[in-house]
Amino acid sequence: PSSTFSSRQFHSLSNPASFGIAFDIDGVLLRGNIPIGSSPQALKSLYDDSGTLKVPYVFLTNGGGVPESKRAKELARLLDVNILPLQVIQGHTPFKQLMKRFEDELVVAVGKGEPAEVMSEYGFKNVLSIDEYASYFDNIDPLAQYKKWTDKQDVNQNSKSKHVAFSNDPCSQRAQAVFVVSDSVDWSRDIQVLCDILRTGGLPGKEIAHQPPLFFANDDLAYQALFPSERLGMGAFRIALESVFNAIHPAALKYTSYGKPNPFVFKNAETVLMQVLQSSQDNNQVDGREQFFKTLYMIGDNPAVDIKGARQAGNPWFSILTRTGVFKGKENYDECPADLVVDTVEEAVDYILSKEC
Ligand code: G3P
Ligand code: MG
Repeated sequence: PSSTFSSRQFHSLSNPASFGIAFDIDGVLLRGNIPIGSSPQALKSLYDDSGTLKVPYVFLTNGGGVPESKRAKELARLLDVNILPLQVIQGHTPFKQLMKRFEDELVVAVGKGEPAEVMSEYGFKNVLSIDEYASYFDNIDPLAQYKKWTDKQDVNQNSKSKHVAFSNDPCSQRAQAVFVVSDSVDWSRDIQVLCDILRTGGLPGKEIAHQPPLFFANDDLAYQALFPSERLGMGAFRIALESVFNAIHPAALKYTSYGKPNPFVFKNAETVLMQVLQSSQDNNQVDGREQFFKTLYMIGDNPAVDIKGARQAGNPWFSILTRTGVFKGKENYDECPADLVVDTVEEAVDYILSKEC
């Protein structure tokens, strides 16, 4: 990447703290790992010729599965700009606020990628991925033998107990919470094992007990990805788990979902945008005066998530809906209209820069 952060980076703006941008990732900048159109160029226009950043921006995604530091590197490679880990806000990023509550407890992390690494980085000391957790319970998944893709060796030999400080067997130690960090890879195994954990107070195979807390990183029904029509997201998995759980258990499933459109996500993005701005300003530029954003732009592809969230967050958020992802309509989205609808993220960035600079 040719772009860098420096103390001079905001000098070209007359009022550097007046605006910032939050970019959704899937369906706006990328589909899978493929940049959409000229999205890397759109990001590059936020840097000056020497590659220093002119405009504070963050990635505000409901996706995840890898630690923020690693995601920053991946995004930098795919989008060809320098990115600070601070600029990456994922669906599961707020889970770190729950660390103190579950610091030493056994917790189970679900989803694609490296869910246990994510939770370890947040400070959780006894976390097992659901792959590893399930491997302790013989025959917990009666369909395992038909799942040709399962690489048991990897789970058993390479990654076992990397993220646990306890010596007890999970078969006799209660799992105290479940975190769905990213999209479930094997719905049938995960629904089975989660029902086991949740019905028994965290001791699969034992008697019914109080449900441990369950947290989802987002509640997206669908996301864009590479296929022409949207794919089922974590919200769809939540519905499946909830329907099955409620059919086999007397008390309804209790859970908490994070991610957009929750207003606290946008509040936090505002704080992070200010940190991005301040982390790269000269001390004498900051000079003790209070700084604030006049406008924060949310550029997203999903009306029910990105646009609804920005609208609910209110001032200073301004929502821009692209046609490159979940939303493919001609006009605005009726149920939750955006402040502006554009074809692409390039168009959105052009609009912002021509209005602000
Ligand atoms: O799994 C990712 C998806 O649910 C949403 O990603 O970047 O569009 O918020 P994003
Ligand atoms: Mg999206």
